[in-house]
Amino acid sequence: MSEEQFKNVISHAKEYGFVFQSSEIYDGLSAVYDYGQNGVELKKNIREYWWKSMVQLHDNIVGVDAAIFMAPKVWKASGHVDGFSDPMIDNKDSNKRYRADVLIEDYQEKYRVKNQKEITKAKKRFGDDFDEEQFVATNPNIARNNAKIAEIDQRLSEGLESGELHKVKELIEDLGIACPVSGSKNWTDVRQFNLMYSTQMSATDGESQIYLRPETAQGIFVNYLNIQKTGRMKLPFGIAQTGKAFRNEIVARQFIMRMKEFEQMEMQFFVQPGTEMKWYDYWKSHRLKWHQNLGIDSEKYRYHDHVKLAHYANAAVDIEFDFPFGFKEVEGIHSRTDFDLKQHEAFTGKKLRYFDNESNESYVPYVVETSIGLDRMFLVLMTNALQNEDLGEGKSRTVLRLPAALAPYQCAILPVVKKDGLPELSKKIMDTLKLDFNCYYEEKDSIGKRYRRQDAIGTPICITVDHESLEDNAVTIRFRDSMDQKRVAINELEGIISKEVSMKALLQGLI
Ligand code: GAP
Repeated sequence: MSEEQFKNVISHAKEYGFVFQSSEIYDGLSAVYDYGQNGVELKKNIREYWWKSMVQLHDNIVGVDAAIFMAPKVWKASGHVDGFSDPMIDNKDSNKRYRADVLIEDYQEKYRVKNQKEITKAKKRFGDDFDEEQFVATNPNIARNNAKIAEIDQRLSEGLESGELHKVKELIEDLGIACPVSGSKNWTDVRQFNLMYSTQMSATDGESQIYLRPETAQGIFVNYLNIQKTGRMKLPFGIAQTGKAFRNEIVARQFIMRMKEFEQMEMQFFVQPGTEMKWYDYWKSHRLKWHQNLGIDSEKYRYHDHVKLAHYANAAVDIEFDFPFGFKEVEGIHSRTDFDLKQHEAFTGKKLRYFDNESNESYVPYVVETSIGLDRMFLVLMTNALQNEDLGEGKSRTVLRLPAALAPYQCAILPVVKKDGLPELSKKIMDTLKLDFNCYYEEKDSIGKRYRRQDAIGTPICITVDHESLEDNAVTIRFRDSMDQKRVAINELEGIISKEVSMKALLQGLI
């Protein structure tokens, strides 16, 4: 998909009520977005797919809904007050600010693209005999590109880990990286910016500084003992949460990909120390399966193992999706050791242990975390689903091929004309179906136009009510993807739609 097609996704999202710029009538707020009437439904369905896959399908995972505001010391203990910052650099000519590490990573991506081109070329040349693994291991151009990537990695981590940010600036200059806007290489120094928003909370003894949570995970950690005890949970067990998180992302990029206010779906899985790698491997593959179960081409996903690990992690991997601007992280799986619980023990003086009846000992559990951005997943689905389809004879249609179970509306009910009792019969049908499904009712414009509008918002089934329906108690249903139509009895509708849009069938793919 090209940049051009991505622009289409953004304008389609706006035109059809999925995503709007926040406070648009006040000229908008950078990197903040609102979800419209169709967006909110799609988002809710993605959340539901995630929640059910975690909480309903795993008898050892329960949910929590922690407050956004937390005791400020939580963020001192978690390391966010001191360490949650991005290295930023400004271009003096465009006055644009960039994440220095992202500028460098984008530069590295060029070498990865070159490698991919070599592979594609060789695949064509050797056909069925092509051994990709051997080719990658022996091709000198790929070796040269990989060496360059590794050298840049090395220099970048040296600068970031030592805090000697002048080394990061030197790297940008040595690589000749120019500002994408002005094209100039006139850079400021690199500086760290903390990403947390803070505000004041009044208390009897004055005001205290309080933060808007930058991740939902800490709300889970601080409730670990409450839930373990009241739920009589036995290791291994998980706590899942969905909710808003806030980060002062200086650089607004790529629509809802990087926002200042966004939603996370996180699950902390508490395990016996020493078993964390087994569970890390389990969640790594189970989470990829969750993505692929949506019918998205598996070539569009890849793992990106973290080579440099955060100080609290002993393994970490990103699940990346092939966005129009390249492969980018959608979800992270992190083996966080006992770092967070131990920090909260140290800062509160309270024991956050687990008493293991079998070994008769008490210890701080290790944690494997899965963390996915709901907005990014929304973007994955929109980018993947939006298609302009050539229908031949100069005709085309725009269709949003969303997984049927996640579509904003499951069906649309369309009387062919606005008279002769057809609206009344349609409403009667709707009154039955709306108990199970989100139904769209529309009587304006030609049927063809109404089909196109439903295609554009991804409605899997249209139900057309015509004059014959009054006689034979049957209607025509039309399927979004195939555009096939068939006549069915009104009392069969519920069964047909249930089968087509079934969340149960989707979840079955995960078992
Ligand atoms: N608790 C771990 C954690 O927060 P993260 O990699 O910083 O890890 C997890 O974030 C996920 O949250 C990312 O994979 C991404 O999908 C989403 N995310 C992070 N920052 C975001 C932002 N500014 N806008 C939208 N989504 C974001």
